[in-house]
Order: sequence, then structure tokens, then C-alpha cells
Amino acid sequence: MRYPVSHSRSPVIHRLFALQTGQELQYELLHVSPDKLETAVRQFQRTGGKGLNITVPHKTKVAELVDQTSDRAQVAEAVNTLTFKDDGIHGDNTDGVGLLRDLVANLGVKLSGANILILGAGGATRGIVAPLLESKPSTLRIANRTLDKAQALADKFVPMGPVSACRFNEVPVTEPFDVVINATSASVKGEIPPYPPAVVSAATFCYDLSYGLSPTPFVLWAREHGCARSVMGWGMLVEQAAESFHIWRNVMPDTTPVLKQMSIGA
Ligand code: ATR
Repeated sequence: MRYPVSHSRSPVIHRLFALQTGQELQYELLHVSPDKLETAVRQFQRTGGKGLNITVPHKTKVAELVDQTSDRAQVAEAVNTLTFKDDGIHGDNTDGVGLLRDLVANLGVKLSGANILILGAGGATRGIVAPLLESKPSTLRIANRTLDKAQALADKFVPMGPVSACRFNEVPVTEPFDVVINATSASVKGEIPPYPPAVVSAATFCYDLSYGLSPTPFVLWAREHGCARSVMGWGMLVEQAAESFHIWRNVMPDTTPVLKQMSIGA
């Protein structure tokens, strides 16, 4: 298995945040295999490191090393931001708020009252269901290749709002979806699962949590099926980084110039 951290844009994003806010910061990539995760985190802490971002496939496992976990990281059952403090390691998760800020503030997507469909039921989905439900959608449906995984997630979040689960080929299309979010890891592998084309109408906003230098297979699929707009998750990446930066430095950077500077637009 590969740990594709070398493609990460996070060092550039944090460098731009630091320049903008006048903070002194060194942010580097660490390649860590799962069996070395604890050693790497402890060593980083020993050598005076202040904070870490954690990416796949470590976001769940690293929660075991954390002394204090934020509410949102507990709900997501995943940690993407570590802060090393005198009283121990604090774990947080900035992915959900990053997605929400990109959708609502940057892209102007209306989530309250919307019919939302999430494709996929893995770790990425678990991290975004709660913040999406907090936006008061009319319905939130999780469709997955494996029904059991989608059902387990829906069951977990049903006390929070109108969430339900089904297989890809069982998505009801009587009402068009306002927002379709791809949270499968299929794009990364260049695959297009049998997503039901009827979920996309000319009024549907499509968003891929994955991103790349060229449009992802899901983004292309959504455009081919006539969606209103189809966007990759670069903005979520920048927004979750901004939230991590804020946790570490208590300064909230302005993400707009960073999105522009990265030539990926908002
Ligand atoms: P995790 O995020 O929990 O590590 P993952 O293996 O990366 O899980 O898969 C994330 C999601 O992508 C899952 O919903 C997975 O579907 P299954 O639950 O059925 O395994 C989905 N996924 C990945 N590749 C896929 C493909 N080729 N077709 C359909 N769904 C796919």
C-alpha cells in the first residue's frame, strides 16, 4: 500500500497562511506507515513539534493516542489535527467544518431545506454527516455499494436528523437531489462506481471530496449527466487547513487569496 502524502498541498497552504498572518511556521510532510504511527507521533512530540495534521489511512487509529478529543472528532470517530500541549495531546477534526465553509461560504450552496445525497459510506462520510445534518437539510441519504455500511452510519446519526441509507441502485429519484456529494474513494482509483444517473438534474450541485489537477472521474460523470455545477474538494482542503491553523495559532487566515493563489478558484 502507498501513503500518498507526497502529493499533499498542505505545506504550501500553511506557508501561505503563515505569510499572510505573520506567523513563523514550519510545516513538513512525514511519510508514516501504519505500524510506525505511534512512534512517529511520540518522536515528533519529543523533538518539540507543536501540531500535526493526520491524513488517511491514519485518522481513526491516531485517535487512540490522543489525551483529549473534541466533540466533533468523537462524532466523526476520526482525528485530523493534533495539538501538543502541556496537558497532553489534543485531537480535533476540521474536515466537516472545512466542507461546510467551502459549500456555504465559498460556493453559495444552500443546505437548509435541501435534499442531499452522499455517495459512499466510509471514513470520509462519517466525518461529514453530522455537520451536514446541523445545516438542517430536508433529507440526507447515504448510498453505498455495501448497504450494511450505509445503514450502520444512518442508524448512528438518525437521532440528529432525517438521514437514511440505501444501495446505489435503490436511490429514490422521485424528487431530484439538490446536492450530491461523492465520498467514495473510487475517484482515487480512477473508478466510476455504478452511480445512478437519475440522481443528477440540471438543478443539482455536485461536489467531490476528492481533488486533482484535472477533473476527477466523478466530476466528469456529474457534468456528463447534466448537473448544474460540479466541483472538486480543493476548497474543503484549504478550509480544513485554515481551521487547523486557527487551532494551532489562534489566528484565522483569510482563505480567499490562498484559493486564488493556488489557481484552483473557489
Ligand atoms: P474507508 O474510508 O472507511 O477507509 P474505503 O475502503 O476507502 O473506506 O471506501 C470508502 C468508500 O468508497 C466506501 O463507501 C466504499 O464502498 P464499500 O463500503 O462498498 O466498500 C467506496 N468505494 C471505494 N471504491 C469503490 C468502487 N469502485 N465502487 C463503489 N464504491 C467504492
